[in-house]
Amino acid sequence: DADLSGANTLALPARAERLARPDSEAALAGALATRGAGEPLFVLGQGSNIVLDGDLPGLTLIPSLGGIDYREQGDDTARVTVGAGVVWDTLVADTVARGWRGLENLSLIPGTAGAAPFQNIGAYGVELADVLESVDTLAVADGRSVRFAAADCEFDYRDSLFKSRRRGEFIITGITLTLRRHGPCRVDYGGLAARFADADPASLDPAMVRQAVIEQRQSKLPDPAVLPNAGSFFKNPVVSVAHHHRLKADWPELVAFPHRDGMKLAAGWLIERAGWKGRRLGPVGMHRDQALVLVNHGGARAADVRALAAAVRADVRKRFAVDLEQEPVVLP
Ligand code: EPU
Repeated sequence: DADLSGANTLALPARAERLARPDSEAALAGALATRGAGEPLFVLGQGSNIVLDGDLPGLTLIPSLGGIDYREQGDDTARVTVGAGVVWDTLVADTVARGWRGLENLSLIPGTAGAAPFQNIGAYGVELADVLESVDTLAVADGRSVRFAAADCEFDYRDSLFKSRRRGEFIITGITLTLRRHGPCRVDYGGLAARFADADPASLDPAMVRQAVIEQRQSKLPDPAVLPNAGSFFKNPVVSVAHHHRLKADWPELVAFPHRDGMKLAAGWLIERAGWKGRRLGPVGMHRDQALVLVNHGGARAADVRALAAAVRADVRKRFAVDLEQEPVVLP
């Protein structure tokens, strides 16, 4: 079935000209070999970070390689190799159940393990890059296997070599992570710090942190199965220290964090103060509990998403002189 309306979490209507869900590296190489010269190629996971702007021409692949392979390494660490098609939160739940540390802060993020490196998923003070060891891929050009060490993936905030500099050149088939078998959990980020302020750090186990992350996410992020969305629709923008200083003078309660290149602002805060929290434009709107999340109230098309994104960006620019950058990738 080439209907993609159930294969993107914003639930936008679109079809793929040709669609395959290869479940092994051989099947993936085989599917790739059917590609005609110059035929467009798209790769999707669970479609939780894309905006489908119409039908996808050519070949669309949804890598569906399964399997989670665990190897304990001595007393302290464990190495986990995961097929690209494994649902991310299944992996998180499984490692947390073993008492292993590293993924608990990334609980409940929608999507597949294979999509995780593409945008370097992150939440509650942890990014995939913190625990990733390597990424296995097939090169689109010749179907050969290529392994990238984490240090070579050019990870940045919601960015990687796969999303940016070498976009479209490699299909991720699996990832390998290194997790800790003991030791402290990270609870220094915002809501988690508040939740565990009175706890003895040594008493925290990853199951407690996972539970807290799930509660905090469920309290403000809409479940795409109930209210279609693609998570944060914009990145948190980084502005100069001087710009931050000017804004802070007008808006003392501005939310900002120090960043390598200046100050990182909370885009959700800017959007809320620009009047868009819970506000609709046609069939789409900014979520009432988290203004950074664009939601489809039903029947939306890509043009509706574009119109709302443009209106929000314009109002944030007018009020704060800040340019918001869209986070989900637009296809085709
Ligand atoms: N805020 C508002 N109004 C809003 C939303 C947020 O004032 O409508 C304020 C909050 O009060 C808070 C600050 O903005 O002081 C930050 O909010 P929050 O902790 O919800 O996190 P975020 O910066 O909006 C980022 C990630 C999320 C991730 C959370 C938790 C990005 C673009 N988003 O959101 O990731 O779950 O932190 O770590 O970096 C995603 O990428 O899809 C995603 C959901």
